[in-house]
Amino acid sequence: MTHQTDSLRRRLVAGLLLLLVAPWASSHAADAAPQKVLVFGGTGHLGSEIVQRLLDHGHEVTVFARPGSDRGRLQGLPVRYIEGDLLDAAGVAAAFEKHRFDTVVLAVRVKTRDIHFYEKILPPIVTGAKVAGVRHIIHHGAVGAGRNLERFAGLGWERIPGLLDLLKDQGAGEDILRAGGVPWTIIRNGRVYPVGTPPTGKAALTEDDSVLTPMTRADLAILTLGCLGNRGCIDKTFHVRDTSLPWPAPGLPPYTAPE
Ligand SMILES: NC(=O)c1ccc[n+]([C@@H]2O[C@H](COP(=O)([O-])OP(=O)(O)OC[C@H]3O[C@@H](n4cnc5c(N)ncnc54)[C@H](OP(=O)(O)O)[C@@H]3O)[C@@H](O)[C@H]2O)c1
Repeated sequence: MTHQTDSLRRRLVAGLLLLLVAPWASSHAADAAPQKVLVFGGTGHLGSEIVQRLLDHGHEVTVFARPGSDRGRLQGLPVRYIEGDLLDAAGVAAAFEKHRFDTVVLAVRVKTRDIHFYEKILPPIVTGAKVAGVRHIIHHGAVGAGRNLERFAGLGWERIPGLLDLLKDQGAGEDILRAGGVPWTIIRNGRVYPVGTPPTGKAALTEDDSVLTPMTRADLAILTLGCLGNRGCIDKTFHVRDTSLPWPAPGLPPYTAPE
């Protein structure tokens, strides 16, 4: 065999190997190319962890925040703000009209016990994102959302006032997102460790929708970054599995329901 044929064969084998490896690599991509990311809930505990990590990885971050939001957790960080309230559909639409975003992240928590909150906020987000050509929406939802509740019968969640209505609303929001025409990822959380708990590094996403383990917000943020630009996360609903943390968390009451 000539040297030329040998070299051609080596390049062909290398090319084939790359073709075999590439899909795996892209579905586990940790470092996406720099993106323009719009974060809803970026002033909150989880949201600010996500914002910090997005910036650490070179992404350009815009935070949609209410005028009166405490921006203390983002102090000194190079983020752009768009002021608005998620319950004002026109304000949400305007956010998408003025700027271009590759990815939208929702790390929102409803504190008003409004049982139609997600049903109200998802339509303008999805419509605005679609019109603006957003490539991916990553939504932090709740274990037990919609029909997923059936997986957790027997935990006594029905005894917690208002919880089932909130989970129904979470389910309605998820359905709106799935039907919206923008590639989506849902990451459901259920048992969240106290604010400031460092990451375990042991949390993983799973499509097993019967999983309910504790997790830290820091690990949720890491998992969010792992889904950025990662086609392995597209159109998937994930739960988080971290078996390294005891529950209830030390010092916390034995509250076991998602919020
Ligand atoms: N089951 C559990 O153990 C448990 C416990 C806690 C949290 N969680 C879950 O963990 C995730 C993160 O929660 P977190 O504690 O990090 O949330 P958080 O600190 O309460 O932050 C919530 C964010 O949502 C924003 N937001 C709420 N309503 C809004 C509106 N109408 N317009 C614009 N922004 C609005 C807040 O803005 P403002 O700054 O203006 O308020 C804030 O940035 C959520 O999915 C939550 O459900 C679960």
